Formats: sequence, structure tokens, C-alpha cells
Amino acid sequence: MKNEQLLMLKPDLAGLEKAAVILQGGGLVSFPTETVYGLGADARNDRAVARIYEAKGRPSFNPLIVHVADADAAARYCEFNDIAQRLAQAFWPGALTLVLPLKADAGISKLVTAGLDTLAIRVPDHPVAAGLLGAFGGPVAAPSANPSGKVSPTTAAHVADGLGDKIDAVVNGGHCAVGVESTIVSCVGDPALLRAGGIPAEALEACLGRALVVGQDPELPTAPGQLESHYAPRGKVRLNAPYAQEGEVLLGFGPVDADLNLSVAGDLTEAAAHLFAYLHQLDAMGAKKIAVSPIPDHGLGRAINDRLKRAAAPR
Ligand code: TXA
Ligand code: MG
Repeated sequence: MKNEQLLMLKPDLAGLEKAAVILQGGGLVSFPTETVYGLGADARNDRAVARIYEAKGRPSFNPLIVHVADADAAARYCEFNDIAQRLAQAFWPGALTLVLPLKADAGISKLVTAGLDTLAIRVPDHPVAAGLLGAFGGPVAAPSANPSGKVSPTTAAHVADGLGDKIDAVVNGGHCAVGVESTIVSCVGDPALLRAGGIPAEALEACLGRALVVGQDPELPTAPGQLESHYAPRGKVRLNAPYAQEGEVLLGFGPVDADLNLSVAGDLTEAAAHLFAYLHQLDAMGAKKIAVSPIPDHGLGRAINDRLKRAAAPR
């Protein structure tokens, strides 16, 4: 049974005002960004942030990404060095999260940072997210708006299906254009890629004129073979499959005869935009075994393959 209280808000002024009031009161509001739908709460309010973990059923307090309206707002909460400044200038608003030293007086809930002295922060490139951040006027902590371990939502309907009875409202802003989460770069020490995502690492490296070191995504366990099952559809996933075997549904890429095709043209941007919606659709189809075409491991393909590996991890 879905919560009859779930408010589906229109992305107009009245809807955004209402959403802002809910956030101010410590409520949970899901909103669209260019990457995926976020599950937002006031990042300064411990109880509100705790409700995020509760709603998602997260087994542990992973640190969350804070969303702000612009780089000036971000500078209130963390320290920017030259590299961070350059990346923010080039890619904000956009699908880039920067991990930066947290300012002592930032007032961000410790539940957001999981006690770390760094903060992950970004300026989303979406008119509805921007409107909400403007109306609210404060920092919004927001992980993807899905139950822990499930596929990230790229439509308001995905959010309602997964979390409808656990949150207060969702602002309906249609589907998300990028379709995979933001790229995470740590600017503490040598700039490091912590998570492949919506902005290709190559673009960041071109901007900086240097290679990113590969950092450790804190969500990934260190020992091989313990890869956390994540982003998982209900069916069993087999990767790098040129074609489907008996009983498998093929999630294709490129010119293959597939049940669902991420991009017939072999376009990685189009594939990223379709990825989570198609994983949801495979659940809706009742697919028990899913084969996935090989996907080139460069540009957005790295983010896609990262998500697919987690979908295929033993659970
Ligand atoms: O596209 C996105 O980034 C979406 C939308 C809603 O903005 N958000 C998102 O948030 O993907 P979430 O909570 O699902 O992912 C947070 C990631 C985790 O991998 C977490 O470990 C990392 O950010 N993270 C957060 N704070 C960190 C920190 N201080 N140091 C290192 N990693 C951090
Ligand atoms: Mg997530």
C-alpha cells in the first residue's frame, strides 16, 4: 500500500514553495536533478538527515552529497583550493561532486559527513533543483531517492514506487537527462576520481591538464569478491554478453537484436540516460535472467560499467 500522504508536487512556483516549506520543517522531499532524483533533507538538521537513512533502509551511515544553488553557497561550507576552483568554474552547475575540507563552522549535520572532516558538494544543473534550492535557501543533503541497494530513480514514478510510503513529497520534473549519478572527485591531496559518473573523467583531466589519481569510493569494500550488490534489478545479471542465452532477456548496446536497447547507435550518452529506467523496466517485465551487451569502458561507459558491475555482483 502506498502512502496516501505522498504529495506529488508540480515543478511550478507554488510546488517549489511547498517543497521548501516541507524541507524547512525537517521533512523529506524528492526532487529531480540532471543525474537522478535525489532524496532531499535540510543538511543542517540531524533528525531530517536521519530520516533519509531510515527511508532508504541504508545499512550504514555513508556520507551524503550536499546540494547548493551556486559556488558562492558552496564556499560557505568548504574550503576551495585552486584545483577545486578550476573544476567548479568549468563544470558547475553540473554532474560533478567535489570532496573538499569541511569548514569548522559550516553547521552541517555530522550524519551528512558520517563524521568525516570533508564534505561532498555539488551544484545541480536542473531548473527544478535550482528552483528548490533557491526557495529553500540552504544546503540540501540528497542521496539518490531509491531504497538502499536498488536502482536509482530517473522519474518521479520510480521514486513513488520505491519510497512512496516513506517520504513527504516528490517534485515531478519529468525524467533525468544524464541518467547516472555525478562524478565524484576528491580535491583533498592529489585530485582523485572517487566515482565515475555523469561527467567523463577525460573531460576533468583535460580541464586540469593532469591525470586524476584513482581514489577509493567509500561505498566500495576494499577486498575483491566482496563487491557490494548495488543498483540491482531483481533478475540475475550477466555482463559482456554478445547475445542472450535461453531464458535470458537481453539489455543491448549497439546494433544487436535486444529486448531493450540502451542505444542502438552505440551512443554512450544515450545509454547512460536510459540505464536506470531500463533496469526498472526489466523488473516491471519480470525478467529473471538478464544478459547485458559489452559496453566500451571509456567516457560515460566507465560510469555505466561501474553501475552494471554492481548490479551483477553476488547478493
Ligand atoms: O548524482 C548524484 O550525485 C546524486 C544526485 C541526487 O545528486 N546523488 C548521489 O548521492 O548519488 P549518494 O548519496 O547516492 O552518493 C554519495 C556518494 C557515496 O559514494 C559517498 O560515499 C560519497 O558520495 N561521499 C559523500 N561524502 C563523501 C566524503 N566526504 N568523502 C568521500 N566520499 C564521499
Ligand atoms: Mg545512490
